[in-house]
Amino acid sequence: MTPMTEEATGAAISAGASKDIKKVGIVGCGLMGRGIAQVAAQTGYTVLTHEQDKKFFDNGIGAITKSLDKRVAKGKLDEDTKNKTLSNISFAASLSDFADCDFVIEAVTENIEVKKAIFKELDGVCKPSCIFASNTSSIPISDMAAVTNRRDKFVGTHFFNPVPVMKLVEIVRSIDTSDETVEIAMDFGKALGKKTVEAKDTPGFIVNVLLVPYLLDAVRQLENGLATAKEIDDAMVFGCGHPMGPLTLLDFVGLDTTLFIADIMFEEFKSVHYAAPPLLRRLVTAGYNGKKAGRGVYDYSAK
Ligand code: CAA
Ligand code: NAD
Repeated sequence: MTPMTEEATGAAISAGASKDIKKVGIVGCGLMGRGIAQVAAQTGYTVLTHEQDKKFFDNGIGAITKSLDKRVAKGKLDEDTKNKTLSNISFAASLSDFADCDFVIEAVTENIEVKKAIFKELDGVCKPSCIFASNTSSIPISDMAAVTNRRDKFVGTHFFNPVPVMKLVEIVRSIDTSDETVEIAMDFGKALGKKTVEAKDTPGFIVNVLLVPYLLDAVRQLENGLATAKEIDDAMVFGCGHPMGPLTLLDFVGLDTTLFIADIMFEEFKSVHYAAPPLLRRLVTAGYNGKKAGRGVYDYSAK
């Protein structure tokens, strides 16, 4: 198989160890699952996506279509590639549809019990050679691998938001992940056109160990009245050249997701760096989960 557009990938599906991957299963079609589905389908993989309710899958496909339409309007993608990409993605009503997948990526809500239940079910359904990957931001890969009988074929693949744009995938090796699985995951990431780095299996891996304290501190400073949200964001955009300020980024990532991540990291490290500020908890309790909810630190309802 060859990539369908120059935009799809560089190394593409001809990559070494991942050459046997043809069918990719994705569990979850929220912000991340839909992004991973989009890049995998655009690379030419057959993608099956499972959601807890078909309406969430439909929302995800709507967002993917919008994202591809924008590329077409900019002249960066042709209509045929858009249509092929969409036709490569289909809905799986049940996890049992994943029986012949070669690589399954879980991208559901950051909750260890939910993720463990999914992997336990998948382990009974998927063929023995299928590799399991989690897109978790903070949960140790070993904890999820432990509920399966394929710990050597279990790896972390941590993509970044928005997936079609962000170039990195952290490949996380657990205590039991085999060298072959790491190599296949690295090759798969490269086939999707991503830069890969290997990270140790500690909560937050490389990026979130550094990024999450920064996001939490921005909320703490807002709570302390240091400046308005807009001023804090402008300061980091214009003073440090960041593409978006920390509070806009928090809205973009999701306040609920960030709170889940912070609580998991705090539980593990017992460090004040990862202690969620009360304001973040109050906003999540109120349902202000960020851009995806129409309101987070900022209000998007008018747009
Ligand atoms: N799908 C496809 N393409 C997209 C896209 C999407 N969802 N969103 C943006 N793009 C493309 C645009 O089409 C545009 O492409 P061209 O330059 O080829 O025309 C390019 O990205 C830039 O987009 P825009 O001009 O619309 O907007 P922008 O310049 O403001 O960039 C942004 C948007 C890429 C999101 C930028 O603001 C950014 O890089 N923000 C920081 C994002 C970040 O830090 N992500 C990591 C979050 S942490 C994480 O993911 C880990 C975790 O576990 C929480
Ligand atoms: P999200 O809230 O946008 O989407 C999660 C999706 O999972 C929802 O659509 C939900 O319906 C679905 N889901 C929940 N339980 C399910 C189940 N049992 N079966 C099938 N689907 C189920 O969250 P997200 O931002 O896409 O995050 C997903 C994962 O990716 C989390 O582990 C998160 O930590 C990680 N992550 C998030 C970001 C980010 O910036 N948001 C970046 C990197 C990694």
